[in-house]
Amino acid sequence: MKRIGVLTSGGDAPGMNAAVRAVVRCGLDRGMEVYGIQRGYEGLIDGAIKEMDMSSVGDILHRGGTILRTARSERFKTEEGQKHAINVLSAFGIEGIVVIGGDGSFRGGLELSQRGITVMGLPGTIDNDLGYTDFTIGFDTAVNTVLSAVSNIRDTSSSHERATVIEVMGRHCGDIALYAGLTGGADNILVPEMPFDINKVCRKIIQGKNRGKMHDIIMKAEGVGVDAKELAQLVEEKTGKETRVVILAYLQRGGSPTAKDRMLASRTASKAVELLYDDESSKAIGICGSEIVAYDLEKALTIKRPFNADLYHLADVLSK
Ligand code: F6P
Repeated sequence: MKRIGVLTSGGDAPGMNAAVRAVVRCGLDRGMEVYGIQRGYEGLIDGAIKEMDMSSVGDILHRGGTILRTARSERFKTEEGQKHAINVLSAFGIEGIVVIGGDGSFRGGLELSQRGITVMGLPGTIDNDLGYTDFTIGFDTAVNTVLSAVSNIRDTSSSHERATVIEVMGRHCGDIALYAGLTGGADNILVPEMPFDINKVCRKIIQGKNRGKMHDIIMKAEGVGVDAKELAQLVEEKTGKETRVVILAYLQRGGSPTAKDRMLASRTASKAVELLYDDESSKAIGICGSEIVAYDLEKALTIKRPFNADLYHLADVLSK
């Protein structure tokens, strides 16, 4: 394949720029022409496409967000939008594209793939909710951002002897809460994958108070079906402990990517370009252990990774 495109789609994630850089530079290294598509599938429909060179991806490796910008496209969900996107790609002579995004972006890629475009999916989302890969690009940075917020909140929480509900992102996946909760010493971790028992949460807080514990961090994933403020109120009522709420929201989607995310982005992007160069069929690329893996794109979307209940129990033991 001679001419390829690259786009970022859905919620941005730290490391997307590192992936774009690697797609462009690995493509050029193989003698391919690489086109950047702006604003995800929206820009594709609008023909917002520009050829990229070595310097168009200079000085972006360390930056959060995405220089290509991103969008969630309603137009691309329609048959008309998809047909239009295919026409645009054919007008530019682009035969294959690298889609950097999450589950919804991969589904969009599958539509293009079924219409004759080769699509290589790179897992770009802070949520870590793509089952075929151990980790997604952006997850590690988001966990570290949450961790640093937890450390700050612990200081003030201890000083005032308060409990704090910290709500983190992740959509239906509890991994950000789990990883940041365990490494940040949260007293309670609430994730959508595990049953939630308010009495158990409050018992742990009261037991902690009885043995002189100053702070209490309740790390709650956004996918847990209870409002953070209502939860805080319930905790306050049942434990008698003043309880505050911090919703970290978009704070955890920005920032310079960690080494781990830059490495994952660079390695998966290099693999995507290699597969396009070799004229392989559409794939989703990820990591399993330390190995870069590639699955058939459609199959990848059906793979479910079980929730790591061992880590969840370990976090509970460590915070008793
Ligand atoms: O998928 C990434 C994510 O940040 C989720 O964790 C969150 O639920 C969602 O995107 C927020 O989406 P938006 O940027 O459209 O508000």
